Amino acid sequence: MMARSGQPAVTRVIFTGLALFAAGCKPQTKYPLDTLAPASNITRSFYNIFVEVTVLDIIVLIVVVGALLLAIAVFSTRTGSTRPPSVKHSDLYLEIAWTSIPMLILIAIVVPTLRAILQTQPYAWAKDTLPVEVIAHQWWWEFHYPTLGVETADELHIPTGKTIHFELFSKDVIHSFFMPQVGGKRDVIPGQVNQITLVADVPGEYYGQCTEFCGDSHANMRFRVFVQTPAEFQQWVKSQLAPPVKPSGGPAAAGAKIFADAPCAICHTIRGVSGFSKEYTYGFRGPDLTHFGSRTTLAGSIMDNTPQNVALWIRNPDEVKPGANMPTLGLSGGEMNELVAYLESLK
Ligand code: CUA
Repeated sequence: MMARSGQPAVTRVIFTGLALFAAGCKPQTKYPLDTLAPASNITRSFYNIFVEVTVLDIIVLIVVVGALLLAIAVFSTRTGSTRPPSVKHSDLYLEIAWTSIPMLILIAIVVPTLRAILQTQPYAWAKDTLPVEVIAHQWWWEFHYPTLGVETADELHIPTGKTIHFELFSKDVIHSFFMPQVGGKRDVIPGQVNQITLVADVPGEYYGQCTEFCGDSHANMRFRVFVQTPAEFQQWVKSQLAPPVKPSGGPAAAGAKIFADAPCAICHTIRGVSGFSKEYTYGFRGPDLTHFGSRTTLAGSIMDNTPQNVALWIRNPDEVKPGANMPTLGLSGGEMNELVAYLESLK
């Protein structure tokens, strides 16, 4: 909608605001944290409840405002009227109506809400349920597939049509696991294991974000969710289970030596090169880099995985992600190129 040139600036501002507001309300997947574009059984339940509550709210609004207008127009005392005001103290039918209608509305909201809550954490799971352990760290996400032996960071892969049972762990502070289109939101609390169970059904790439303030880089604690067809997921599992690439020469081979000699290996696992016991997995450590090159993002999923960004990250992690535990290594330009070449070769 265009305002004519003769209209005052304020009109144009209002029209522009309304257009932006209308665009913002429209469910479109181009908004990365859209809660109105469900892609799993539980987010579809949440969406249906949202629609139901909104419709009920609109009906209530129309009835209440209508009754108010009616009262003003019909029953208000007019100038010159000699009629005395109503002195009726109670009306049994009205009392019954305005007690029972809100009660019925509340029941209509509570029943599907309780059903959705139980759906996210059932007492029993399907036999072929895929368990996934989510470990929240300041400021990145670790994903374990205990039955598959796969481990990854900041990029979660799940197949469609299969029950996924997430167990949420934190070893530092309270975080919140939020993947609006796939799994809703649940807090990740130290000393407590929260759960979410879901079945994703629309393949695609979705965004996730920590939604509980957890320190300097809380906003940089993001992740991606790749919902894949079962065949694509199997392929991904196979590639993740493969041993890491061993460079035979060139800059990548030199980079492998830098990785092993520099402090990198103290915190990061590359299977067969460096690693930790299962127990240590849940304590302080950095992401598993065995297949780092196969990921699309890095550093809490805030940057695309390109050689330039990897170098930018390693050169000064604290600048990219304030408060990050990763130290500055002080590598020369040549060493940096070699280390980046090695990391990117780990497909
Ligand atoms: Cu983790 Cu905010």
